[in-house]
Amino acid sequence: MGFLDRLALPVLHALDPEDAHRLAIRMLQFAPLPSTPPDDRRLAMRAFGLNFPNPVGIAAGFDKNAEVPDALLRAGFGFVEVGTVTPLPQPGNPRPRLFRLDADQAVINRLGFNSDGAAAVLRRLAARANAGGIVGINVGANKDSPDRVADYVGLIARFAAVASYVTVNISSPNTPGLRDMQHAAVLDDLLARVIDARERIATTAGPTPVLLKIAPDLPLGDLDDAVAIARTRRVDGMIVGNTTVSRPARLRDGAQAKEAGGLSGRPLLPLANRMLAETYVRAEGIFPLVGAGGVESGESALAKIRAGASLIQVYSGLVFGGLGLVAAIKTALLSVLIRDGRPSLSDYVGVDAASITAQAWPA
Ligand SMILES: Cc1cc2nc3c(=O)[nH]c(=O)nc-3n(C[C@H](O)[C@H](O)[C@H](O)COP(=O)(O)O)c2cc1C
Repeated sequence: MGFLDRLALPVLHALDPEDAHRLAIRMLQFAPLPSTPPDDRRLAMRAFGLNFPNPVGIAAGFDKNAEVPDALLRAGFGFVEVGTVTPLPQPGNPRPRLFRLDADQAVINRLGFNSDGAAAVLRRLAARANAGGIVGINVGANKDSPDRVADYVGLIARFAAVASYVTVNISSPNTPGLRDMQHAAVLDDLLARVIDARERIATTAGPTPVLLKIAPDLPLGDLDDAVAIARTRRVDGMIVGNTTVSRPARLRDGAQAKEAGGLSGRPLLPLANRMLAETYVRAEGIFPLVGAGGVESGESALAKIRAGASLIQVYSGLVFGGLGLVAAIKTALLSVLIRDGRPSLSDYVGVDAASITAQAWPA
């Protein structure tokens, strides 16, 4: 663990989790980190027409309002996903709504898309549009929206010009009814209209990739439909996946585990990797996948790549490991490449997918 993490983590962990998150954002805003050295060329990854300097991204939900994307890029992430942003500002659910399960290295959140709203986030992204680096935006619908599909379509049109890619997030467990949009008929209509909006503005905004982020709790029959629809509608990739509403049997922090919301972090890894592998075998290489859920080390990052991820994202692992986790993952991945004499991480993508799908379902 680096010097900064050793200093910051005890302070952050002494605070209420949401106050700690706010302080972490403030620290990134006002105490600029030293830039990390450029990445080794062997860590580069190409996906959705974009060149990623390394495959380690920060997942949606940390920088919901695009306050610190450039500080995060400087910290060594290969890409940053800001959001979820909703069209109109909304407060989200009442506090407390964020819980740390220290014994399990896990987090439960029921934030419910607290967002500064599209206008504020758009202003921030437009102000850094020429700064370089891959910054995607994750979009969602307002809780009280009369037309949720229209919310997504409108956000694609507004953000395509200032974001490296756009993620359609229909997998948050904390907006009632949102995950129903993963069902076939709604999803097909949503993706058709989202891709149509993207095409209409492509002449001015460029060919902004559109990704679909799904829940790890999707039944396999619904996953069949989701991947088939994503393929027909020509989305550029999928993110697998969001937090889980399930509670793995082995959780130790019993009291906190009873809180409603989405679980993330270490206990999510087996389910997230299973769903990733299931998605990989269905996508058949038509589009690349981003793996999220439970990455906390070089080993878990490599496991995710081997399960089918071309790129990975982390969030909860940072809560327990600090920003030093980014360098630790990159160093570990590079040493695997050197050990095996391989030129690129793409050699490992999905090599374990078939065997993972043959295993017993994770408990
Ligand atoms: C506090 C918190 C807030 C989150 N907010 C969002 C969000 O706004 N949009 C989204 O798509 N995912 C959100 N996520 C889910 C993460 O992006 C990620 O998919 C999930 O946490 C699994 O990764 P992890 O185990 O590395 O945390 C959030 C996760 C956490 C812990």
